[in-house]
Amino acid sequence: MNYLNVAIAAAQRAGAVHKKYFRKIFAVKTKSTSFDLVTIADKEAEKEAVSLIKKHYPSHNFICEENLYPRNACEYTWIIDPLDGTNNFVCGIAIFCVSIALMYKNKLLVGVVYDVINQELFYAESGKGAFLNGKRIYVNKVDDLKHAMLITGFYYNRDKEMVKTLNTIKRFMFKHILGLRRLGSAALDLCFVACGRAAGFWEFELSPWDFAAGKLIIEESGGIVTDNRGAKPPLTSKHFIVASNGKIHERMLRVINEGK
Ligand code: IPD
Ligand code: CA
Ligand code: CA
Repeated sequence: MNYLNVAIAAAQRAGAVHKKYFRKIFAVKTKSTSFDLVTIADKEAEKEAVSLIKKHYPSHNFICEENLYPRNACEYTWIIDPLDGTNNFVCGIAIFCVSIALMYKNKLLVGVVYDVINQELFYAESGKGAFLNGKRIYVNKVDDLKHAMLITGFYYNRDKEMVKTLNTIKRFMFKHILGLRRLGSAALDLCFVACGRAAGFWEFELSPWDFAAGKLIIEESGGIVTDNRGAKPPLTSKHFIVASNGKIHERMLRVINEGK
């Protein structure tokens, strides 16, 4: 099995865990705030994905949402969100996924995002294009904000970042964009840009496990992912993320930065 096949197999393991618990009764705990949730499905999905990958690559490193793993000198790192969209999952809303990326040094090699309920498997390998269920995908050709469907996300912050997010939404709405969605799963939001359903996405603060796989999938679909200044976001720390089909990127950055 190559890296991509291992990543897909790990995503399928996590997907099976999602399916097992979705819309059933399960324990829910809070993390940093009352609206930052974690379930047995998050934990079990991470265990399944990590153990499968470890069997193939015992020396590789892991950056995952639910656990800290000891780091070693190996230059390969798997970046995993075992369940992206936990709040949707808890509410029985079928918008969530598992997100798995493999990075060598600072370069993404593989990205896989799997939505088990809707049976959508997005994946990309560096330099080889991006795919949805085996079919090549591309970003859309929308080149003005007026025709752009945009997606945003709210980080678990109801202070300054939230005020900035709400003000940015206001500015975009008054540019008469086609529409704005808040779907609740950043990894899927990025894949929706990659396959042309949306023209752009932004969120004030995302963790590497939210955006690593989606970033490669968008880039391999012809789009771009930057921070709010138009620079490359680092893959190992929380960051502002702006993603688009490329054609509306500058315009999005202008609207986002107008509030400063
Ligand atoms: C969250 C989702 C959400 C985004 C948050 C993320 P989680 O991930 O991706 O859409 O707005 O910033 O933290 O907690 O469900 O894995
Ligand atoms: Ca997440
Ligand atoms: Ca998560």
